[in-house]
Amino acid sequence: MQRLRRLRRTAALRGAVAETHICKQKLIYPVFVVWGEGKKEAVESMPGVFRYSVDRLGEVADAVLDAGIAGVMLFGIPKEKDETGSGAYAEDGVVPQAVRFLRAHCARRGREMLIVADVCLCEYTAHGHCGVLRDGRVENDASLPLHAKAALAYAKAGADMVAPSSMMDGVVAAIRAALDNAGYPHIPVMGYSAKFASAFYGPFRDAADSAPQTGDRQSYQMDFRNGREALRELAADEEEGADILMVKPALAFLDIIKEARAHTLLPLCVYNVSGEYAMVKAAAAKGWLDERRIVKEILTAFFRAGADLVITYHALDAAAWEEKGV
Ligand code: PBG
Repeated sequence: MQRLRRLRRTAALRGAVAETHICKQKLIYPVFVVWGEGKKEAVESMPGVFRYSVDRLGEVADAVLDAGIAGVMLFGIPKEKDETGSGAYAEDGVVPQAVRFLRAHCARRGREMLIVADVCLCEYTAHGHCGVLRDGRVENDASLPLHAKAALAYAKAGADMVAPSSMMDGVVAAIRAALDNAGYPHIPVMGYSAKFASAFYGPFRDAADSAPQTGDRQSYQMDFRNGREALRELAADEEEGADILMVKPALAFLDIIKEARAHTLLPLCVYNVSGEYAMVKAAAAKGWLDERRIVKEILTAFFRAGADLVITYHALDAAAWEEKGV
């Protein structure tokens, strides 16, 4: 007789036939680095997440190494913002400084971690848009060299990988060319290929102080009603030479992750974004959800849908829970 329950009878049986696992070596922890000294500032809408100045990064680096996760994704909050986001591509900017600090810290401990640098202008521009403005519009092609310059500054500082998140057309190709020409052909580019204009980024914009001062990002980030277009974005990044593709946000886009997996042979990353984290933390704080079980279920869903890598603010917690078998 067909009895699908037969293999669910004991925990050992269930474990033996489980199809999907959370793998902590595949988790990346986003880190906000703020200009200044001695800073560890709580992000109100993201309980457990902080903005660190470079001199305080040792604490988070140790946590990442001890957790055994893949590494970090760096976002910078500069000393000053301006029209062209020059803090993004200054060689002594906050992200290059953070990269150098983390490299030295890992070397001292004789350990390795993946240091990925996000490449975008919105944390660095006074207007909060991801490219430069002309007549109130975000100029695609004028923004590309600035992204390339930023990526190069991060690679020079010692980043393992750069990840452009601005959704400018051609940004992957521009960065690839700049890296190749400057002697960094070995540094991979991870495209935020299918990045949707999303209300789920709200808490991040508090953390990075990067909300657009006028308008929104719908003229460059994708319309969340579109699935086929996401495949075009993924194909475009692949053609431009991306080494890893990404879908973002994650929870409301599991269908896109699954389709992306079916359409590319490249590694696929998903970004479990700030608003997804904030929802879980808020409900858990009220005692309405069991945080550990919810996080496990959510992260497992990303891997089941086809993700190879997951960027998540839950990374340190998830790794610790896995360690303890809870
Ligand atoms: C910068 C950027 C954003 C996120 C990652 N890179 C914000 C945005 O596009 O407004 C969001 C990440 C998150 O919500 O956790 N362009």
